[in-house]
Amino acid sequence: MTERVSRIDRPANASRWHPSARRTSTTCTPGTTTRGAFDSRWYEERKRAALLAALPWRHYRATFEAGCSTGALTAHLADRSDRVLAVDLAPAALERARRRLAGRDHVELRRAMLPDDWPEGAFDLVVLSEVAYYWAGADLDRGLTAAVASLSPDGHLVACHWRHPVAEYPHTGDDVHDALAARPDLVRLVRHEEEDFVLEVFGHPGARSVATEAGLVS
Ligand SMILES: C[S@@+](CC[C@H](N)C(=O)[O-])C[C@H]1O[C@@H](n2cnc3c(N)ncnc32)[C@H](O)[C@@H]1O
Repeated sequence: MTERVSRIDRPANASRWHPSARRTSTTCTPGTTTRGAFDSRWYEERKRAALLAALPWRHYRATFEAGCSTGALTAHLADRSDRVLAVDLAPAALERARRRLAGRDHVELRRAMLPDDWPEGAFDLVVLSEVAYYWAGADLDRGLTAAVASLSPDGHLVACHWRHPVAEYPHTGDDVHDALAARPDLVRLVRHEEEDFVLEVFGHPGARSVATEAGLVS
């Protein structure tokens, strides 16, 4: 492998993610001032591929992405969904997402501060990727509760978060995933853990594995 994840590639030093910088944030990782650099960073590209591969269904009816930033993941979710709603609090990031997703009429981009502005409606895919560790205090539980409440009865919640501590974030990724694992209203279908990030997929109790849904096991 010729490309390595350098220190500057890591989100851990993400001053642009800090809540105090969020309103003007256009990017997710430090050292990244253009959409292209973020998109092509191998760490991010590989993580997006892992998340997309972990989704139990090939296609979803309605997807909600919380904290979509410039829409790099949103574009892939749009390939797998009839309809996507993606929100972010940063207007500049949303503007880039709008440019990226121009012409994809089944994608709606909206400004929202989560968990307060959680959208109405049910989604069969809810995506919490690199966002829930921003929810300080009671907001973490409120955000996770809102995510579960917006999940259709057969839906999937996918969560993926950086595991290393970041001084400015109220929670680590592990805190978020511990809180998800402790919920009695979710069962885990997938867990992928690395030193740097954890990726999990949940459903409501009774959710079935991919092989079970396909009739390969009973
Ligand atoms: C690292 S980016 C994640 C982008 C995308 N989900 C992904 O994984 O590639 C985090 C985004 O969450 C947004 N964000 C942080 N806190 C938020 C909040 N409370 N409500 C809405 N968006 C938020 C930031 O503005 C930023 O664009």
